[in-house]
Amino acid sequence: MSYEAYFQERLARLKDEGNYRVFTDLMRQRGAFPKATRFKESETGDVTVWCSNDYLGMGQHPAVLAAMHDALDTCGAGAGGTRNISGTTHHHVLLEQELADLHGKEAALLFTSGYVSNWAALGTLASEIPGCIVFSDSLNHASMIEGIRHSRAQKVIWKHNDLADLEMKLAAAPADAPKLIAFESVYSMDGDIAPIAEICDLADRYGAMTYLDEVHAVGMYGPRGGGIAEQEGLMHRLTVIEGTLGKAFGVVGGYIAASAALCDFVRSFASGFIFTTALPPAVAAGAAASVRHLKASASERRLQHQRVAELRARLDEIGIPHIKNPSHIIPVMVGDPVKCKYISDLLLDRFGIYIQPINYPTVPKGTERLRITPSPVHSAEDIDRLVSALAELWSACQLARRPMAAQ
Ligand SMILES: Cc1ncc(COP(=O)(O)O)c(C=O)c1O
Repeated sequence: MSYEAYFQERLARLKDEGNYRVFTDLMRQRGAFPKATRFKESETGDVTVWCSNDYLGMGQHPAVLAAMHDALDTCGAGAGGTRNISGTTHHHVLLEQELADLHGKEAALLFTSGYVSNWAALGTLASEIPGCIVFSDSLNHASMIEGIRHSRAQKVIWKHNDLADLEMKLAAAPADAPKLIAFESVYSMDGDIAPIAEICDLADRYGAMTYLDEVHAVGMYGPRGGGIAEQEGLMHRLTVIEGTLGKAFGVVGGYIAASAALCDFVRSFASGFIFTTALPPAVAAGAAASVRHLKASASERRLQHQRVAELRARLDEIGIPHIKNPSHIIPVMVGDPVKCKYISDLLLDRFGIYIQPINYPTVPKGTERLRITPSPVHSAEDIDRLVSALAELWSACQLARRPMAAQ
């Protein structure tokens, strides 16, 4: 076999299908984010980032950077080992305590990313509990799907956010089988939110554990940034809350928060936890500073909600269609992969505005979109420039606008 030819042929096929992903080469400007420098061929230019998951700008927060600098200067660069073999530093221990407290749980367990936390925790729970059946929302993230698949446990997919379908499927399973319901709070592509209380009611009725991915909600919702479950007073009802340190907390890493026994169980059996080098202590220190800051400060969340409302209202004024949802994610619907990419390219090249196009297979065909994430660090002028650029491109591409009454 000609391996190189095979790689080229598969890549060519991806390109033909329009599914080949191209990186935008950026250097974020600390202190000026969402401004970044874009590198293209031998040129550079300034861009404003409108699609970052550093939702609150914590990646440049002085408290986070100070904690990271301090830990780097005192502990050095890497953890130097897995958590079991010399890689547990005091910064990891403090961060786990901070996260357990954030979610009102007995314990928390760190992983190297949110992806790994889902893969390892779900994979371990589902495979190590004999006969466990996993009930997985149909729009769950790839990391959850992979973890469940890896476990080889029986999987039942229920229709997205559909309580009747979930109940029907729970009722059809043997009453005495161990069950785990896996779902997200904020779904990142449509920005819709799960009916957490009702899912917990079903879990109680059918004796199931609950596993809630709050990756797009931690830091962002609830009085202390504990997520949608905190906002709705439901944290105590969930068996496992999973989160990331890489989005609203602005650093990197993932975690679960749960009972002491459950965390110890995953710590003891999850290969994705045991056999990998721990996060650098400076990362753990920065994340802890971020979590601590957002527990005490609601101003970032307040300002972000304001920015989201402002942008939605401005889009409505000019009839640009976007999905109405109760979250901070604004999916602007283009509905055509070529136009979606074209608009994104022009925004970047002509207006210095970076919004990654979201095409199939990330979203269903015909629902191609620009996923916009306003943050407290976007200014009123940034919004003005974005709205006027979108208005111009919408006309240039002859895309439909919504009449106000239809919105
Ligand atoms: C719902 C959900 N869960 C988990 C992850 C993975 O988190 P991380 O980026 O920290 O690996 C993502 C990433 O976007 C996500 O959208």
